[in-house]
Amino acid sequence: MNTDPAMPKVVATVESLRREVAAARRERQRIGLVPTMGALHEGHMSLVRASNDECEFTAVSIFVNPTQFAPGEDLDRYPRTFEADLNKLAECRVAVVFAPSAEHVYGPDHATWVEVDRIGRRWEGEHRPTHFRGVATVVLKLFNMVGPDVAFFGQKDYQQAALIRRMVADLDVPVEIRVCPTVRESDGLAMSSRNAYLSPGARRRATVLWKSLCLAREMVAQGERDADVLHRRMREVIASAEDSRIDYLALADPDTLEPVEQIDGPTLAALAVTIENTRLIDNEILHP
Ligand code: PAJ
Repeated sequence: MNTDPAMPKVVATVESLRREVAAARRERQRIGLVPTMGALHEGHMSLVRASNDECEFTAVSIFVNPTQFAPGEDLDRYPRTFEADLNKLAECRVAVVFAPSAEHVYGPDHATWVEVDRIGRRWEGEHRPTHFRGVATVVLKLFNMVGPDVAFFGQKDYQQAALIRRMVADLDVPVEIRVCPTVRESDGLAMSSRNAYLSPGARRRATVLWKSLCLAREMVAQGERDADVLHRRMREVIASAEDSRIDYLALADPDTLEPVEQIDGPTLAALAVTIENTRLIDNEILHP
């Protein structure tokens, strides 16, 4: 554990985390939580800054949550850059970094899971059937461990944020959810810890996700309302990238995530595409 005063304080147990939060509560500070899996980039940092803007006390969790990875997914090779993460967080006002071990979060007898029906079953949920129960369970645990007033998520993972909003409403969790805009590289690629997996060629081709979303946005702005037409044109853009495979391409109601046939209100365009061996997701709200 670091003792450098310039670095954020790191705690690894719920007991010490709660001690920090309790002290802040006694000072009547507003508590913000930014849950992450580390390998921090500007997308994560935008959430930390949003918390800094609204809360006197910002907690950042860094925990590569094993239960949201299926066997054969990238749990083992997920980037872990803890020292670099702390250096980045030192540039913001972070009261505490919570970095527990998997054993501390999940006891040997762990048996309770949060399942979010409907929203959790569609799109990502169809392609990664155990993913969202891992996400919902760990996020509810983090909410119970920290007891934040506000928690910050990115629009980059639109369905995840929608699922957490649903869970918080359904289970009466006393926390406000903020969803912050997607932060992108200069060529439009959404920042992601997984972008580090891309070879230089795949990295260049990965811009097709954003290009297809921009095309959909332009077509809708010019009056296109037929979801099938948008689907077809977006698929063409993705297919133009060598070695790309579409997992799903959703045009859906932004609240329920149910697919739509006509674009007659704000519509979520969301997609998951594997380029080489790297699975990328992105989304945008289309406004007719
Ligand atoms: P992780 O992928 O590390 O992302 C942590 C938070 O950062 C999420 O809310 C995500 O939506 C947000 N984020 C990621 N890339 C972003 C970008 N380019 N712009 C804006 N925000 C971005 O999402 C998770 O971790 C986990 O599922 C977690 C919620 C921590 C539960 O384990």
